[in-house]
This record gives sequence, C-alpha cells and structure tokens, in this order.
Amino acid sequence: MNIKINENFNHLAQNYLFSEIAKRVKAYTEKNPDAKIIRMGIGDVTRPLCPHVVSAMKNAVEEMGKAESFRGYPPEYGYDFLREAIAAHYASFGVTVAAGDIFVSDGAKSDCGNIVDIFGDNTIYIPDPVYPVYMDSNIMSGRTIKLIPATVENGFLPMPKADFTTGVYYLCSPNNPTGAAYSAEQLQTWVDFALDTGSVILFDAAYEAFVSDDSPRSIYAVPGAEKCAIEFASFSKTAGFTGTRCGYTVVPAALKAGDTPLQALWARRQATKFNGVSYPVQRAAEAAYSQEGLAQCMENISYYMNNAALMAELMREKGIFFTGGKNSPYVWFKCPNGMDSWSFFDKLLTEAQVVGTPGAGFGACGEGFFRLSSFNSLENTKEAVERLRGIL
Ligand code: MLT
Repeated sequence: MNIKINENFNHLAQNYLFSEIAKRVKAYTEKNPDAKIIRMGIGDVTRPLCPHVVSAMKNAVEEMGKAESFRGYPPEYGYDFLREAIAAHYASFGVTVAAGDIFVSDGAKSDCGNIVDIFGDNTIYIPDPVYPVYMDSNIMSGRTIKLIPATVENGFLPMPKADFTTGVYYLCSPNNPTGAAYSAEQLQTWVDFALDTGSVILFDAAYEAFVSDDSPRSIYAVPGAEKCAIEFASFSKTAGFTGTRCGYTVVPAALKAGDTPLQALWARRQATKFNGVSYPVQRAAEAAYSQEGLAQCMENISYYMNNAALMAELMREKGIFFTGGKNSPYVWFKCPNGMDSWSFFDKLLTEAQVVGTPGAGFGACGEGFFRLSSFNSLENTKEAVERLRGIL
C-alpha cells in the first residue's frame, strides 16, 4: 500500500498502558498456569450491578421487545429522562447543571479522547502523572503538549504557574492515579486563571462518587467554571458500568471561544461520529441515579473503600509513603528500596502473583511509584495484603 498513515502514532508508546499490563500478565500466566493471580491493576469493578439498575435494564429490554414500546436510534445526545436524572444528580450535591448542557456517551474515556476534535492547535497542558488517555489522544492528533509535574512537594495537586499560557488544561480530581483531590479554593484558583488567560479546563470527574470530604465533586461547584470548563463523568466507577458503558460530558452553553459556543462544536462532533447509547443502558443509568439505585451503588463504593483502607493500613504499618485510599479507589505508594516501578511490577507479579500498575505508565513523574486498585473482592484484597506484607 502507498497510502500515508498518521505519523503521530509513531510517537506513542507501543501499547496503551493497560494493554501492556494485560500482555505481560498473559505471558506470565501462560508460563505459570496454576498461579492464582490477584488483579489490582486496571480499575475494573468486580461487584455486580445493583438490583435496582438490573431491574430497570430488564424492563427496558422488555419494552424493546414489544412493537408499541420499541425504540430505534436513541437521541444523539441522550434521552431527556437521563439528561434530567444527571442534572438532578448534580443538584443533589448543590451544583447547577442544565440538562441541555449534558451529552450522554459510552463513557468518560471516549469523551476525554474525542474532545480533542473540537480544538485547534493550542498548547495542551497535562499533569504528570495522569490517566494516559489525555496524553495518547493529544499525541495522536499531533498537539503541542506541556507537562505539569504533580509531585510529592505539591501534594500531587499542581497549581497554575506564572509561565503558563493560554491553552487547554486537563485536570482530574479526585485524581487518577494519585487519589489527590483539589479543594474548592484550589479549583477557584484554576478557574480564575482560565478566565484570565482565556483558557479551557477539561475536568475529569470520573471518581466524584468517591469523595468523602468537602472536596468539590464537580468543577461547576466553583463560580465561573461554566465559562471555562468542560466536565467528564461516568457511571463506570459509580455504578459498576465498566462493562455496561455509559458516561456523560457537560459542555455549558456559556462556554465560548470568541463568539463560538463550544457546545455547538461538541454537538456537531457527536451527531456526526457517535450514534448514542442504547435505551436499556440509559434506563439502567437513570436507575443508578435514583434515590434507591444510588443508595445501592454507594454500598458497593463503601465496599471498595474498605478494601482501599486495608491497603492504606498496610502502607502505614510498613512506613511506606502513600496517597489515596480516601476520596479515591486507588492507593498510590512509593516503590520499596528505591525500585523503579516496572521492576516492582515484575517483582509483585512473580513473587506475589499480584498485578498492579507501575507509576511510570502514568508519566515520568510517576516513576518510583505504584498504584493498586481497590476494585477487587474483599477476600482477594485481604489475600493480596498478606502477600504484599511478605515482600514490602
Ligand atoms: C484505570 O485503571 O485507570 C481506569 O480503569 C482506566 C479507565 O477508566 O479507562
């Protein structure tokens, strides 16, 4: 073939982080078929969908099976019932978001990557370490990227600096991978900075349901954010939808680049490239945000947070520096004895048969750190803690 490829792909790491981990674990299990592996790498949930959600999904499937209630293509931005349920969810923690500003999708990961389509050639500021999708999708589009170091010194919560220019700023709070969550004052500083410089903030709130202190669960808790921020959120971690797929992006009507409303661009992009989320999944998502559904989902979140607390306790016992374990389903800790994070990954896999995520996979500043997910079962988490105790 003589066609030209997108050369930007040559600048990516060979594999997406979690594909690389899966590849290494597969190679290990092929050689060690009897090994009882405990997976605490990718943040994939293990608790089943809660009963209220399951029953809503079943009812919706029944509707789809009858001529009088069958539905074809869903509305491209989501059914009104779900957009309104999401707006009501925001209102439940004191944040005003208009249903019309909400765009339902198959998950925050896709939207975090796809949002690149609506921007021109700006400088993209990305914290390091961070969820790898932001980096990879901007590399694919050949964007100019500047990294913002998130370090022990700044509590993994970098703030605007004097030399930061107008640009597109990704923030993730509670943070994946570090678990650090911005306070309202810190977010206000970011919003003021974005308004002053004419920048846009892309705020990933996928872990909002894990906030257990007074950290904002949405950037729209901060005055002025509707004029400078887009927010991504998801049912994956809140309601166990990693395999069910549903998320949403808020692009406020007030958000404009010059005279152009960004909402119009995102609406145009989605209408062209996305065909909506299935009716049964949207009914299930609506049920997850009902009073009964959310109470059931929060039981699962407490379950995971109990797992995180067991891991945090081990770190305290061993005197290992860590963050997360509260406000986040992840525990982020320093690799023992100054090990680099991929070497520690190998050690953990081969000596304890526990899979985690090397900090270097989230960026250069993540080197020397390691992330464990609390999304496994209590039984497996206890077992993993025992195995870790032996090698830490
Ligand atoms: C993670 O492990 O960082 C997440 O599960 C990845 C994702 O949400 O796509």
